[in-house]
Amino acid sequence: MTNANQPSRFPLCILPTPCHRLPRVSEDWGVDVWIKRDDLTGFAGGGNKGRKLEVLLPQVLAQDAKVVVTCGSSSSNFVRQLGAACSLIGVRCEAIVMDLPFEPGYPKPQIPPLASGGNETLNELFGTVIHRIPDGPWETLFDEATNRAALLREHGEQVVEVKIGGSSAEGVFAFRQAAEEISQSFDHLVVSSSSGSTLSGLASGFHGSTTHVIGISADPEEENYDDVLRLSRECAERFGGTRLTEVDLRYEYVGPGYGVASEEGVLAAEYLARREGIILDPVYSAKAFAGMQDLVTRKEIKGRILFWHTGGVPSVFGRPRT
Ligand SMILES: Cc1ncc(COP(=O)(O)O)c(C=O)c1O
Repeated sequence: MTNANQPSRFPLCILPTPCHRLPRVSEDWGVDVWIKRDDLTGFAGGGNKGRKLEVLLPQVLAQDAKVVVTCGSSSSNFVRQLGAACSLIGVRCEAIVMDLPFEPGYPKPQIPPLASGGNETLNELFGTVIHRIPDGPWETLFDEATNRAALLREHGEQVVEVKIGGSSAEGVFAFRQAAEEISQSFDHLVVSSSSGSTLSGLASGFHGSTTHVIGISADPEEENYDDVLRLSRECAERFGGTRLTEVDLRYEYVGPGYGVASEEGVLAAEYLARREGIILDPVYSAKAFAGMQDLVTRKEIKGRILFWHTGGVPSVFGRPRT
């Protein structure tokens, strides 16, 4: 990308991540399946968020912040990696978290999230200040983060607020650049989507190519579709480049809801672990893999397929809170 507005990056990850064929899955399914290993980004347990943080961190440094405030679920992979990134630059990271944030009007999952252990343990390791509040709507979570930032400012602290999941123009930009790591051509690319910037960046990056990008939503909320487009517009306004007007985002693999495992996801995770020795997380990547498997079975996608593994592996060690 040769845009003059190109943001600077703070190196955190080991890039490019590997991209390789899945020989046994390809044989089983009768299509050519490859995997992009963003579970191996190498920073603070790996995963897609390291890429976004490389672009976000210079903003924190530029504002001379002493504190970063964010929010998410208790088992958020973004909180884990943001906390680690902040500790590297000597900035305190405070995160407002709920075990299971939800959207009013959508059914709340009846099975407990795997909120204890996993990422929660790593947050302690990285020195992140966690404020856990009772479960409630997403809007309450966002408001509490804003309130916390305001309170800290009242006390004279220089605060930077970081959007949930690192989904901002910077996050999209990071994934537009990530798309450039793929030199082979694929018919389809499948990736998990939640706060939207990973999908937005990849769909922008592959826009106009022969690769059709499919997002598998980890959340039931239909509004997330608009977020993916809004994020692409914000990225184009800040840094130039593609502005998406549509995106392929599938909702049928969410299972019981955001933040909890689905039956199909659990089976997909067992399958990939046992056939290729690759670990998926229950909340995001396992549902995306299960979605891809279903789309292949229904012959909706075929040919050469790239699964973009977004990481989240620490969640495998999560347990329901007792
Ligand atoms: C492991 C994993 N995969 C996928 C996603 C979705 O990425 P995004 O929030 O950019 O849509 C997340 C976000 O929380 C994640 O942690």
